Parts: sequence; structure tokens; C-alpha cells
Amino acid sequence: MRVVSGIQPTGDLHLGNLLGAILRWVRMQDEAECLYFLADLHALTVDVDPVQLRASVREMAAALIASGIDPKKSIVFAHSAVPAHAELAWILGCTARMGWLNRMTQWKDKAGKNREGSSLGLFAYPVLQAADILLYRATHVPVGDDQKQHIELSRDIAIKFNTDFDVDLFVPPEPYIGGGSAARIMSLRDGNAKMSKSDPSDMSRINLTDNDELITQKIRKAKTDAEPLPDDSTLLDSRPEARNLVGIYAAVTDESVEQVLTRFAGQGFGAFKPALADAVVALVAPLRTRLEEFRRDPAMLDKLLADGAGKAAALAAPTLARTYDAVGLSRSRNA
Ligand code: TRP
Repeated sequence: MRVVSGIQPTGDLHLGNLLGAILRWVRMQDEAECLYFLADLHALTVDVDPVQLRASVREMAAALIASGIDPKKSIVFAHSAVPAHAELAWILGCTARMGWLNRMTQWKDKAGKNREGSSLGLFAYPVLQAADILLYRATHVPVGDDQKQHIELSRDIAIKFNTDFDVDLFVPPEPYIGGGSAARIMSLRDGNAKMSKSDPSDMSRINLTDNDELITQKIRKAKTDAEPLPDDSTLLDSRPEARNLVGIYAAVTDESVEQVLTRFAGQGFGAFKPALADAVVALVAPLRTRLEEFRRDPAMLDKLLADGAGKAAALAAPTLARTYDAVGLSRSRNA
């Protein structure tokens, strides 16, 4: 089993990213051979600030490693550092059909009414994503619901290429549901909105860079209701803020919601919030310390990423060579 996944380098990770995706990636390291990359080529599909992009890639890579993605177990790199991604994307772009890409809901959402003014990269980006996956002949891709359609497209591209050129080269990837459950963490101010870095209120989220006092303060001020916690999780369904805080506690301590409720049933938020704050601080504080170490020593981080890129490039090379060969190109001719 080989897992490939990418994350957009948006910088500034929060608890929602950590509990939703990253800790799942961390656990998957013990279940499969994992390649994790910063999708920085992907970041170019919309307006880009070069200074910001460079900083975000480092920030995000540091956060992944600080959270427990171990460069000794997994291959961690930026996809721009492995040119084979872009090379394969061109070839697969000649296999993918316009009609397939036109149906991508993310394209429709992101382009909105401005299709004519959107970049070709934004339209073709799912082909790059297919290349990211097929290049490593990954068997599984762990992604959220919003990415399922892109995985399906990667399968279609793999199958059409193999058929068109009569080869058994690309492995149609499956969505991966391992790594334990991914918690869906909501805003501290609105239990129906996802915790997000684009929320204008910083009080709505816990950033991985927040210090202990700030974390505690944000949880103290989190929106709740006046009821004590119930002993039955279904009773939380109509209480989105309460459900979110209990969900965060469960995710942070790696317990089930039922286990948490058994302990806190009948207690109000005056008792629950300090316990939650302690649990979140216990998870985030050591991670923040490691992040600060990387910040002090960016060369160490760059070295880890360069090593990762080297390993990824070595895995990618045979697939790319076979692809060139299958379509009738010769890489050696001009080398
Ligand atoms: N499209 C993914 C996202 O927006 C990021 C991504 C790029 C990715 N390439 C990938 C995810 C390959 C999985 C596999 O979150």
C-alpha cells in the first residue's frame, strides 16, 4: 500500500487542520508507505504573492513535521522540487478530456462567473493532481469529500492512458479511509461553520502558534449554551456549539464522544472549558515549541525538504521514463 497526499501551503495552521487532516496523516505513517507534499505548484493557479508563497511552504512543512510527520518514515517534499510532477502533468493533460475537467465542481466553484478570466492552471489543476498521484503509482489517496471527484478523475485518466497506449503503467488510486477518523472542527464562535483561517475573527480558531494563555482565553470565550453536558451524544445534535467543544475534547485526547460525556455529564461549561483548555494546551504546546525550533533554523528544514525531494524524484523517475516510452518520446535523445 502506498499513500500519496498533498496539502496546499496556506500557512498559519489551526486546530481544525491539525485534528482534521494532519493527525490522520501522522497515524497513516504506521499503516502504509507515505509520501506527503506541499502542493506549491497548485498555489500558482490563483493570484500569488511570491514572498508569501515561499514563507507558507516553509511554515507548512515545519508544521507537518512538528505535528509528527516523521521524515524518516515518510517522504516529505514540495512538489515544485520534483520536476517530474509538471512533466507528467503535461502528458496526462493530453489524455484528459476538456469535458471531464469542465465537470469538476471545484473548478466551477472557484471560477464562478469568471471562467474566461480564470487561469488555464486553475482549469487544468486536477490533471496536475492526477500526476501527483499516478507518478508514484500510489494505491490510496486520503482526502476529504471535496477531493473525491479529483480522485475519480485520476482513475479515469489512469485507465484511459493504460488503454490508449496498451500498457499496464498507471494504478487507478482508491480513496483511503484509514488513519482513524478525521474530526470536523467548527468555529469557536459558530458551531455550524468550519474552523477556518479565512474567518475574520481570530477568536474563532486556535492557531498552532497561539500561546497557552491565548488558547485558554479563546476557549473560555467560546460560544456555548447554558445547559449542562448530557450523558447521551444524540442530545448534542441540537446544540452545535456544545457538540463542537465535546468533539474537540474527544479528538484532542483521542477518546470517543461517549467516553468524554461519561466523564462530564451533568457538568456545565464552567467546569468543562478549563479541562478542554488544558487538553488543547497539552497537545499544542510541544508542537509550538518544535515549530519555533524550525523557525530559528530554516536551513535544517530546507535540508529535510531537499532530502525528501531526492527520494521522491528517485521513485518518480521510472514511472516517468515508462510514460515517455509509452507515448513515443525519448528522454535520452536530448539529454
Ligand atoms: N487538491 C488537494 C487540496 O486542495 C491538494 C492536492 C494536490 C492533493 N495534489 C494532491 C491531494 C494529490 C491528494 C493527492 O486539498
